[in-house]
Amino acid sequence: MSKIISVRDLCKTYKLKGYENEVLRNINFDMEDGEFVSIMGPSGSGKSTMLYTVSGMDNMTSGTVNFASREISTLSNKELSKVRLTEMGFIFQQMYMLRKLCVFDNIVLPGYQAGTPRNAVNDRAVELMRNLGIEDIAQREIGEVSGGQLQRACICRALINSPKVLFADEPTGALNSKASNEVMQEIRKINNRGTGVMMVTHSVRVAAQSDRVIYLVDGNIKGDVTLGRLESEEDIVPRDQWLNGWLMNQGW
Ligand SMILES: Nc1ncnc2c1ncn2[C@@H]1O[C@H](COP(=O)(O)OP(=O)(O)OP(=O)(O)O)[C@@H](O)[C@H]1O
Ligand SMILES: [Mg+2]
Repeated sequence: MSKIISVRDLCKTYKLKGYENEVLRNINFDMEDGEFVSIMGPSGSGKSTMLYTVSGMDNMTSGTVNFASREISTLSNKELSKVRLTEMGFIFQQMYMLRKLCVFDNIVLPGYQAGTPRNAVNDRAVELMRNLGIEDIAQREIGEVSGGQLQRACICRALINSPKVLFADEPTGALNSKASNEVMQEIRKINNRGTGVMMVTHSVRVAAQSDRVIYLVDGNIKGDVTLGRLESEEDIVPRDQWLNGWLMNQGW
């Protein structure tokens, strides 16, 4: 297997009035191509900051991030935007859909921006919406759909350019358990087709479905455990129980 992401000595410090807040301190890890990694840890431990800096959405204070054989920090803004548009997908809670556009138009927008022929983008959008069970809300306005439908629309939009890695910050955070299970099934399907996933979650049951869990405390990786591939739905409960024990040992 080859590495899709290599992070070396990543530090991120926010300078606030009068003092510095060291949010990430010497983070080191590699992610294999196609791997599904969960990031867990207490509130404020730096999980979201890690996703933002690794994906080039926010700049790092020091260190290096290699994504698909390119050093993120050496790319121009234009090159980085292209990588982010065509090779990364994002599901971030604060990245809202455009309310002036319907669900379908929101989903196809990054495809058009990437310059892919519109017919191909439209076909891909229809396929994704069908896979996620939201084809019937294509023409709805953003304000007229449920939270779970909106979350699935965000996944469609994130995947429209067939990214190498999907970055997701608490993709099931606002959902009830049924909608959460549906979204996780879709993320696993996408992952099984080869897209890597780096996902922040507070849910042990959700993390138990990934290949590996990284546990952050105060901006350091305190634990990093490989669960292996989830082979069947029945394995979720025992993995959940095992992961709970592991997390307790980490101070969860
Ligand atoms: N833009 C910012 N400016 C200054 N400090 C920030 C900024 N964003 C985050 N922080 C600080 O960085 C630390 C880590 O924040 P981060 O959002 O990465 O935590 P998190 O692990 O994702 O927490 P949660 O589980 O609550 O989402 C916190 O102390 C936070 O206050
Ligand atoms: Mg967060």
